[in-house]
Amino acid sequence: MQINPKTIKNRFEKSIETYRQNAIVQKHTAVKLVSELEKVKSYFPSILELGCGAGILTEQIVQKIRFDKYFANDLTGKSKNYVSEFVPEFVFYEGNAKKVRQKVDLIASNALFQWFKNLDEISDICKNNLNKDGILAFSTFSPENFREVRDLTGISLEYKTAEELKTIFKKNFDILHVEEFEKVLSFENPLELLAHFKFTGVNSLGKQTFTQVKEFCSGYKKRYPKITLTYSPIIFICKKK
Ligand SMILES: C[S@@+](CC[C@H](N)C(=O)[O-])C[C@H]1O[C@@H](n2cnc3c(N)ncnc32)[C@H](O)[C@@H]1O
Repeated sequence: MQINPKTIKNRFEKSIETYRQNAIVQKHTAVKLVSELEKVKSYFPSILELGCGAGILTEQIVQKIRFDKYFANDLTGKSKNYVSEFVPEFVFYEGNAKKVRQKVDLIASNALFQWFKNLDEISDICKNNLNKDGILAFSTFSPENFREVRDLTGISLEYKTAEELKTIFKKNFDILHVEEFEKVLSFENPLELLAHFKFTGVNSLGKQTFTQVKEFCSGYKKRYPKITLTYSPIIFICKKK
C-alpha cells in the first residue's frame, strides 16, 4: 500500500499535538539512533533533519550532538514550532523532503523513510545534499512492522528488509551500522489500539465504516487476545562514498 504525501500531511497535522506522548517506539528509535551516531561522530558543522514532526529526534540530537547550523524539514509547517522548542536558530524547509536542496554534514531522520516509494531516489538526493564524508543516519521499519494488522487485514506499507535497504544505500554510502529490533506494545482493547494509530498519525487502515471497525476489533481480539502490536524498527548509519 502507498499513501500520497497530501494524505500523510493531513494525518500528521491532525496527530501532531498527541504525537509526542504516544509515539513511544519512535522515541526509542530516536534515542538509539543518536546514541549510535554519537559513537561515529559527535560534532557536525551542519545538520539537516528530514521529517522532523513533533521534534522527538530534534530533542535527542540537541542533547548529544554539537553543531553550528540546523536545517529542519517536514511536510507540515506546524513542525517548525516543535523544532523551535529545542533549537534556538534554524532554517525550516516546509514540504516534501525530496525537494530539499541543502548541503550539510549530517542528514538525520527518524521514522520517515518507510513513507517513500523510491528509496533509490532518496539515497541519491541524500548523497547530493551531503558534503564530503557526510553521514546519513535514519530509522525506518521492516516488513514485520504491525504484522498483526497485516496478517488480519492484508493491509501494510511496502516496507523494505534490512538487506534490501543495504543493497539500495550501499551504491552511494559505506554502511557503518545497521540494527534491527522489535518492540511489542499491548493495549487494553482494540479500540485503544486504533486510538494509538490515530494519535501517532498512522492510520494504517484508512477510513472505516462502523461495521468495519467492529469487525476489525472482534477479529483482533480473537487472534491476538493480549491486543499486542509489533513495531520492527531498523537503524542505519552510513557515510557518503
Ligand atoms: C512518524 S513521523 C516521525 C516524526 C519525527 N521524525 C520523530 O522523530 O518522531 C513522520 C513525519 O514525517 C513527515 N513526512 C512524511 N512524509 C514526508 C515527506 N515526503 N517529506 C517530509 N516530511 C514527511 C510527517 O509529516 C511526519 O511529521
